[in-house]
Amino acid sequence: MRILSGIQPSGKLHIGNYFGAMRQNLALQEEHEGFYFIADYHALTSNPQPEALRQRTLEVAMDYLALGLNPEKTVFWRQSDVPAVTELQWILSCITPMGLLQRCTSYKDKVSQGISPNHGLFAYPVLQAADILIFDSQLVPVGADQKQHIEVTRDIAVKFNNTYGETFVIPEDYIIESVAVVPGLDGRKMSKSYNNTIEIFESESSIQKKVMRIVTDSTPVEAPKNPETCNLFALLRLAASPEELKEWEERYRKGGLGYGTVKKRIAELLIEYFRPYRAKRTELEKNPDYVEKVLMDGAARADAVARRTLDRVRRAVGLKGIL
Ligand code: ADP
Ligand code: TRP
Repeated sequence: MRILSGIQPSGKLHIGNYFGAMRQNLALQEEHEGFYFIADYHALTSNPQPEALRQRTLEVAMDYLALGLNPEKTVFWRQSDVPAVTELQWILSCITPMGLLQRCTSYKDKVSQGISPNHGLFAYPVLQAADILIFDSQLVPVGADQKQHIEVTRDIAVKFNNTYGETFVIPEDYIIESVAVVPGLDGRKMSKSYNNTIEIFESESSIQKKVMRIVTDSTPVEAPKNPETCNLFALLRLAASPEELKEWEERYRKGGLGYGTVKKRIAELLIEYFRPYRAKRTELEKNPDYVEKVLMDGAARADAVARRTLDRVRRAVGLKGIL
C-alpha cells in the first residue's frame, strides 16, 4: 500500500510526539511504500519568521532521519520542492463547496487560539487534499485530530471523479494507535503549548534535570502507591521492558518506594532509549549537505509522480496536458 504522511515543521519534537505518533509512523515504512514530506507550505499559514521556518524545516528533516526514516526506501521531501501540489490545490478549490470548509473544526480552533484568520488557513484542508491525491495515496496515518481532513479529501476526490470521470484514488485514513497520553513535567498532557516538554534531542543532563522536576502527588514513601494513576509510571511504561515494568508495579503496590528512585530510573531509560538516535542526529548536524541531498533526491522522485497525476487532472478538466 502507498502511505503518505505530512509533518508540520512546528518546533522541537518532544517525547510525547515520539511515543504518541512518530514511532508508529516510522514503523509503517517497513511494510508499505512510504511517501513522507515536511509540510512547509502548510506552516506558512501561521506566518512564521522566514529564518525560523527554514531552520525548523531542516531540524525536522534531521529528526526524522535520526529517528530511523530510511530515505533509500521511503520518499522523503520538502513539500515546497514539489510545487505541482499548489496547482492541484487550485483545481480542487474550484470544485470544493464553501460549506465543506466552513465545517472544518481545525480552522475554528486555530482562530480561537489567536492565529489570524487568513485565507490560507481556511483553504488548508484543500492543500492537504492535494497532497494526498497527487500521490495516489491509499493510506494516510494521522492522529484523531486530522481525521476530518481525510474525510474532506475523500469528499473532494469523489466529487471530482463524479464530475470529470475516474481520476483519483480514494484514500483511507489510518488512525495511529497512540499510547495513552504522555504526561508532561506538570502532569498535564505533554505539549509544546504548555511548555512542559522533554525534547527528544535535548542534552542528556537537561533530560535528567527535567525528569527530577516532574510533579508527583504527596503519598509518603512507606505507603503503597497506585501505578495506574501515577504519571511517573506512565513514563516508565514507554521505555522499560515488560519484565522491568512488572517489577516496578510490584514495588509500587508494596510501598516503601520513593518517587525520587523512580525518577532516576526514568531518566536513565529515556537517555538510553534515545542514545543511538542522538548519535545519528549529531552526525547529521555535521553534514547538512547530506540532509539537503536526501530532500532533493526525494523531491525528484515525488515530483515525477506528482506531474503524472497533474497531467491526468489537467486533461480531465479541459486544460492542456503537461506531459
Ligand atoms: P503539541 O501538543 O506539542 O503541539 P502536536 O499537536 O503537534 O503536539 O502533536 C503531533 C502529534 O504528536 C499528534 O499526532 C499527537 O497525537 C502526538 N502527541 C503530541 N503530544 C502527545 C502526548 N502528550 N501524548 C501522546 N501523543 C502526543
Ligand atoms: N495537517 C497535518 C498536521 O497538522 C499535516 C499535513 C499536511 C498532512 N498535509 C498532509 C498530513 C497530508 C497527512 C497528509 O499534522
